[in-house]
Amino acid sequence: MRQLLPAAADLDEAGLVEAYRPPPGRFVRVNFIASLDGATTVAGRSRGLQSPGDLAVFRLLRALADAVLVGAGTAAAEGYGPTSDDPAVSRMRVALGRKPTAPIVVVSRRASLPPESRLARGEPRTICITCEAADADRRSALTGAGMDVLVCGEDDVDLPLALARLAERGFEQVTCEGGPQLLRSALSAGVVDELDLSIAPALVGGGVRLLGEPLADVVRLDLRHLLEEDGMLFARYAVGGR
Ligand SMILES: NC(=O)c1ccc[n+]([C@@H]2O[C@H](COP(=O)([O-])OP(=O)(O)OC[C@H]3O[C@@H](n4cnc5c(N)ncnc54)[C@H](OP(=O)(O)O)[C@@H]3O)[C@@H](O)[C@H]2O)c1
Repeated sequence: MRQLLPAAADLDEAGLVEAYRPPPGRFVRVNFIASLDGATTVAGRSRGLQSPGDLAVFRLLRALADAVLVGAGTAAAEGYGPTSDDPAVSRMRVALGRKPTAPIVVVSRRASLPPESRLARGEPRTICITCEAADADRRSALTGAGMDVLVCGEDDVDLPLALARLAERGFEQVTCEGGPQLLRSALSAGVVDELDLSIAPALVGGGVRLLGEPLADVVRLDLRHLLEEDGMLFARYAVGGR
């Protein structure tokens, strides 16, 4: 991996860790891959945009996190399972002095996760963050299946409250893997500290964009670094002076 900014350098594995290491304390980063025209999927999944370098960054951002946050739509579309499904992430976590696995935290207004999902076998337990409005039977089915259910908010998920509840459990450093709806609400709620964007050298058209509906206000980002491998660009942006 080559670093282009802030200064030209070749990055080995340790250099890549330092390039992405989060500051201490509570921190929310969002990791996405998009084509040059802003598409985040090819045929409904992000896989069609990925490269070996992107996989390395994806794994590293999981390895550097206390918890992995994701929207229910992405968990379903991408077939999410526990982080322990990927032994390479566990090895990186241990090498970084962390526990081998991190919980997946799924945000779902309706508590719509299937209780039979592989996520129910997560260790640490998968957490579903939902709200009072979610069907009580669905919530108890998730608890019965082995997930923790956190109710944060009444008619909708209160993301600042959800992140505070995660921090109380020791999950302060959060990597959010989307998707677009969750990114939009997290930006609107002002809880995103960083966007880590892999920019694939591809044009896709149509499909799921990075953000669907317009934001109420333009969110300004500060470029912290720009890396490159095989034509894929890896940008680390701080969000709005954070
Ligand atoms: N290229 C990439 O890096 C990347 C990353 C992520 C996703 N994607 C793609 O994006 C697509 C999914 O898009 P999406 O916008 O549907 O994904 P999403 O944000 O993961 O999922 C939307 C669903 O998540 C729940 N949700 C999201 N934000 C919420 C909030 N603030 N409060 C309560 N519930 C919330 C809701 O679930 P309920 O309906 O259960 O209430 C909502 O229907 C997939 O095709 C996936 O492959 C691409």
